[in-house]
Amino acid sequence: MREVIEQSKIPRRTLYTGAGMPAIGIGTFGSDKYGEAEVAEAVYGAIASGYRLIDCASVYQNEASIGNVLTRVMEEGIVSRKDLFVVSKVWNDMHGEGDVIKSCKKSLSDLQLDYLDLFLVHWPFPNYHAPGCSQDSRNPDSRPFAAEEFMVAWRQCEELVEQGLVRHIGMSNMTIVKLEQVLPLCKIAPAALEMELHPGFQQRELFDYAIAHDMLPIGFCPLGSPSRPERDRTAEDISDMEMPEIVEIAAVHDVHPALVCLKWAVQNGQVPIPFSVKEAQYVGNLKCVTEDPLGEEEIRRINAADKNCRLVKGQVFLWPGANGWEDLWDM
Ligand SMILES: NC(=O)c1ccc[n+]([C@@H]2O[C@H](COP(=O)([O-])OP(=O)(O)OC[C@H]3O[C@@H](n4cnc5c(N)ncnc54)[C@H](OP(=O)(O)O)[C@@H]3O)[C@@H](O)[C@H]2O)c1
Repeated sequence: MREVIEQSKIPRRTLYTGAGMPAIGIGTFGSDKYGEAEVAEAVYGAIASGYRLIDCASVYQNEASIGNVLTRVMEEGIVSRKDLFVVSKVWNDMHGEGDVIKSCKKSLSDLQLDYLDLFLVHWPFPNYHAPGCSQDSRNPDSRPFAAEEFMVAWRQCEELVEQGLVRHIGMSNMTIVKLEQVLPLCKIAPAALEMELHPGFQQRELFDYAIAHDMLPIGFCPLGSPSRPERDRTAEDISDMEMPEIVEIAAVHDVHPALVCLKWAVQNGQVPIPFSVKEAQYVGNLKCVTEDPLGEEEIRRINAADKNCRLVKGQVFLWPGANGWEDLWDM
């Protein structure tokens, strides 16, 4: 028997438009490890067990199968469209004039929806790599961030809102330096900022900046992405679920360290989107934020344990002449 988490117990967040959304969702990036069918089946199970926020992206190459699942859960009466919060993202090769709109329409058609709740610009530049590429692969057409180029994509996002195809728009993988350049140019402000957030990488300054500018932080890799592709791994990376603070607090609560990362994320105010295709894991991930919260001292201890360890460094997006991945993040 599938465990179903009661909706009324799942914490919620409010966007600047007044729209509500769950304070936790499920990710759908198979990390080059889990195939389209497997991820879609997990989305079905996740919705059946109570998830309502689904973080999709065209580059994950599984929106068509997830679309079949979304239709199925609505036909089976498990959930109605208005209670789902579906996110998608435009990939870096579709930033050109007309392409963002085309990409959004393709995602809508694949997901079998007539609107998205949130549509994100996945990365702030048009530098793109082939799916499944290696860490040293470089695209000779890659170039540094340029605000005017970014705004070509953003204007189309605004048009999607005006056309009613998208309820909110947002950004991802941004820095304060880049946001300072583009926020004054936005006619429709971003409602959310998707960013890497886990105990070992808390991005406190960017997090506070997002909150101060009415952008809800959505935290990706909330568990430290233990199954991430090889191109996103370096020898210095820390493993969140092995941090002594996390392990010790997990022992006190008698739960897996993953659940401590998620309790902390929700109590800290971001919206984590953990990924899993394993039912026991994804149900546990949702359930853990409805019970047995961390104490104030435990939260303080995790806050102090930040290692400033970025996992998704984005090496494959570097342009010729760049010094290293730090350039992508204005460091
Ligand atoms: N905007 C962006 O640029 C961006 C970038 C990265 C990710 N994302 C989004 O964020 C989502 C989450 O990030 P992610 O998938 O990279 O990393 P993650 O959620 O931090 O880690 C997922 C992995 O953690 C393990 N796991 C999950 N639940 C667990 C549990 N209860 N106990 C033990 N292990 C558990 C699973 O590993 P096993 O499979 O080995 O069991 C799973 O594959 C993605 O799916 C995607 O939707 C967005």
